[in-house]
Amino acid sequence: MQSYEALPARALAGSMTVPGDKSISHRALMLAGIAEGRSEVSGFLPSADCLASMRAMRALGVPIEQPRPTHVVIDGAGMHGLRRPAAALDLGNAGTAMRLFTGLLCAQQFDSLLIGDSSLMRRPMERVAAPLRAMGADVRTIGGTPPVQIVGGRRLRPIEYRMPVASAQVKSAILLAGLYAGGASTVISPAVSRDHSERMLRSFGVRVETDDLTVRVHPPARLAAQRLQIPGDFSSAAFFIVAALLAADDRGLLIENVGVNPSRIGLLEILRRMGGGIELLNPRASGSEPVADLRVRRSTLRGIEVPAAFVPLAIDELPVLFVAAACAHGETLISGAEELRVKESDRIAAMGAGFAALGVAHTVLADGMRIGGGGDGAAFGGGEVDSCGDHRVAMSFAVASLRARAPIRIRDVANVATSFPDFVALARSVGFDVRES
Ligand code: S3P
Repeated sequence: MQSYEALPARALAGSMTVPGDKSISHRALMLAGIAEGRSEVSGFLPSADCLASMRAMRALGVPIEQPRPTHVVIDGAGMHGLRRPAAALDLGNAGTAMRLFTGLLCAQQFDSLLIGDSSLMRRPMERVAAPLRAMGADVRTIGGTPPVQIVGGRRLRPIEYRMPVASAQVKSAILLAGLYAGGASTVISPAVSRDHSERMLRSFGVRVETDDLTVRVHPPARLAAQRLQIPGDFSSAAFFIVAALLAADDRGLLIENVGVNPSRIGLLEILRRMGGGIELLNPRASGSEPVADLRVRRSTLRGIEVPAAFVPLAIDELPVLFVAAACAHGETLISGAEELRVKESDRIAAMGAGFAALGVAHTVLADGMRIGGGGDGAAFGGGEVDSCGDHRVAMSFAVASLRARAPIRIRDVANVATSFPDFVALARSVGFDVRES
């Protein structure tokens, strides 16, 4: 089993770019696949998760070329041009792919079966299946989890759906199914969640109306092919933002071309409230998404009570926020984050077990964690932690090594490739002392 050996490092320095956004890369493949004409995507994330979506689109009959790892050319099949796949679609570790494909495929004329790896096969799918069934789709799960079996040929009705959780995946699955419904569908969220689907649907020419927490999609006659430029993934940048706050040299670390969609950057606001020195430079647009360069300086952090409203805006960044909190002065409380229990791993349990192994004072809560900060010195002991096969847990403990007294061995790290294939090389290039072993 692949591990990382992460050693306390010298100061971090330099500039870097992070790979393309995972959420946007999945959506680009799906929407370009049902558009009419040739779409070109640059800045694509060639990670295991997005490549699983690419294989699935190909299996659905969409010709896709990849002249470079980050450049993808998609000959759209049109809204009604997807074909029955010859076998089950294996989506690996990718929850986004499984939930969004469930929305897209329940509206087709053919049957599909969606499967994944052992982590994905344990994740909750009724959150998408139930509203899609209410639209008239035939979507079956096994006790709420995959395989997801979809019986095609159903006529979909529009829905007005009040989501019980602020989930962009559920919202997006309904919007995708809504493209094929007999009228406009509305999704009402309990809190803000990422809005990449809404932005991208609009750029493909679909009429999407948004008003605060409500989004309405009007079924189009067709989607028009696009040129899309995908920004760097804020969630990947997050590891380096926290790393630089903990260990940058005097000049700070520059992270270029990062997506700064307001629905994704809750971590910035939280870290700033903790005293983090993060500047947004050169804000600009990359297609329908805002991007900027981030200059991050080493900062003395103080513990805070994280406001609940920020949690959905930082949901994927909470593991690395836990690491920042462990290096703050005073206690940090993160609550209202029970969704962490049903991510690629139970991230509250996985981070809690790692903190216990490394001697970090903490209390695991049902919906978050209370973390006693270690202050400016070394906050972590050395030792061995288990990522539980979760990419973000693995990378978070690599960041912890910057403030550790002794090496940290991180087990089961192969899934870092699901979102960040070049993590080790990039981390080393700015001064991390991490290697695969
Ligand atoms: C995602 C939405 C979030 C996030 C996931 C990607 C997306 O999940 O955690 O990594 O691309 O829509 P939820 O919809 O379950 O909150």
